[in-house]
Amino acid sequence: MYAAVLLFALMCWTATTRADHHQPCRSTNMTGVMSVLAVRNQVKALAPYTYDATNKKLRFQSNSSNPWNATLELDLLVFFEEGILYKIDSKNQSCEKKALQATYHPFALPSNAVFQSRLVFGSASIEGEGLKADIWSIPTPDLKGQSIMSLSMGCIPLSLMHVAEDSMLIFSNMNVEQEIKDPDLLAVPSFCQGLPVEETPEGTVYGFMTEFM
Ligand SMILES: *[C@@H]1O[C@H](CO)[C@@H](O)[C@H](O)[C@H]1NC(C)=O
Ligand SMILES: *[C@@H]1O[C@H](CO)[C@@H](O)[C@H](O)[C@H]1NC(C)=O
Ligand SMILES: *[C@@H]1O[C@H](CO)[C@@H](O)[C@H](O)[C@H]1NC(C)=O
Ligand SMILES: *[C@@H]1O[C@H](CO)[C@@H](O)[C@H](O)[C@H]1NC(C)=O
Repeated sequence: MYAAVLLFALMCWTATTRADHHQPCRSTNMTGVMSVLAVRNQVKALAPYTYDATNKKLRFQSNSSNPWNATLELDLLVFFEEGILYKIDSKNQSCEKKALQATYHPFALPSNAVFQSRLVFGSASIEGEGLKADIWSIPTPDLKGQSIMSLSMGCIPLSLMHVAEDSMLIFSNMNVEQEIKDPDLLAVPSFCQGLPVEETPEGTVYGFMTEFM
């Protein structure tokens, strides 16, 4: 937590020294594990996920049966391009279908991200002990606060931090393999098909990240 605050402070500081020639990179297809920490709500989640970078689809399944004592069980299937999120309850064979107003998320760098700096997690001077990362800021006009994303040199998202006045969200990406292992996870379950889209209440913005706020 403390490290995250420090990192954020560093990002703000380096904002003045940024180079302008960097273009946001494209992440690849990924299967991995995402952890989520939400400070205000004390939410912890650890979730296996599958991400299709070409078609911008995500399946995210957090499970409280793990040694981390995660607090959140959530099964989400998201179509970022269409702006649709399914909240799935497999036990009950039920589903909610929601419209996304905010489409950024921790699995890919959006095209309007702004390069801030390059730094090394760990040590740059000891062979094999450093992880080079590019740090980008992401404009989040619809969600209050500021988002900072770090990515590896091969454009694998490492972490996304969203800091607002009274809350902080930290997503970390782990055990990544650059392929889709189970494409069926990205298909809409039969019991979710043909549902109407739920209306978002006026004045609220809904997105993948607001599920944790
Ligand atoms: C990602 O996976 C989808 C679905 O399997 C596939 O159509 C697409 O070509 C893959 N993209 C890359 C960059 O491999
Ligand atoms: C959570 O993980 C456990 C052990 O891996 C598994 O038995 C259980 O079915 C999972 N629960 C959900 C809701 O996926
Ligand atoms: C998880 O919760 C159980 C029961 O509340 C507790 O005994 C255990 O110490 C917790 N483990 C961790 C790693 O916090
Ligand atoms: C199943 O759905 C009912 C009503 O929608 C809800 O009250 C109940 O908690 C759900 N059960 C599970 C296991 O999610």
